Amino acid sequence: MRVLVADHPLIAHKLTVLRDKNTPSPVFRQLTEELVTLLAYEATRQVRVEPVNIETPVTSTVGTGLVKPTPLVVPILRAGLGMLEGMTRLLPTAEVGFLGMARNEETLEAITYAERLPEDLTGRQVYVLDPMLATGGTLIEAFKFLFDRGAADITCICLLAAPEGLAKLEAVHGARDNVHVVLASIDEGLNEKSYIVPGLGDAGDRLYGVV
Ligand code: URA
Repeated sequence: MRVLVADHPLIAHKLTVLRDKNTPSPVFRQLTEELVTLLAYEATRQVRVEPVNIETPVTSTVGTGLVKPTPLVVPILRAGLGMLEGMTRLLPTAEVGFLGMARNEETLEAITYAERLPEDLTGRQVYVLDPMLATGGTLIEAFKFLFDRGAADITCICLLAAPEGLAKLEAVHGARDNVHVVLASIDEGLNEKSYIVPGLGDAGDRLYGVV
C-alpha cells in the first residue's frame, strides 16, 4: 500500500478554510471539489494509458489515450458524493458507481446500505472517494467489496486521515502494491467519538446539512 500526502501550498490553504467551523456549506462544497481536483491530479499519475494515432492539422502523430474500459470512480455515500464533480472534472470519461456505507455510531462498524456497481470489475482501475479516513472501517469494507468483484487496483482519495485509520488499512492491505491512498493531510488522531482531530467535523453534515 502506498500513501501520498499531496504537498502544495494551495491544498494547504484550501484545507485550512475547509477546516474553519465558520465556513458555510456552499463554500465548503466548492472547496471540496477544488481540493479533489488537485488531489486527483496526483492520484491519476498511474492511470492506464496507451499510444493512439491522431492527425493534427499539420501531420500524423502518436499521442496518449486512456485505456478502455476507462477508470471507475466510486464515491462512498453520503460525503463522498461531494467529491464526485471535482474528480470527473479531471476524468470526464470515467464511469461512476456508488457504494452507500455508514458507520454504526455505537459499534463503529461499517455497514453497506446501497450499491450500484458493475457485477464484474475484473481488471478495472478504481478510484474511491471518501473525504474522511477516520477508523478505516469503511474503506476496509469498500476495498473488500471492490476486490471481491475483481478490481485490479484501487486508489482512494481522501481529504484527511487519522494515523489510527491508516494503520488499520496498512494492517489489512500493507502488503499489496495495488492499493494507493492520496490525501491532503494526516491529522493528529481520533477523539473519543472517533472524529478526526483537528479535522473538519462531520464532512457529510458540512456538505449537506444535518439530516
Ligand atoms: N467522519 C467525518 O465526517 N468526520 C470525522 O472526523 C470522522 C469521520
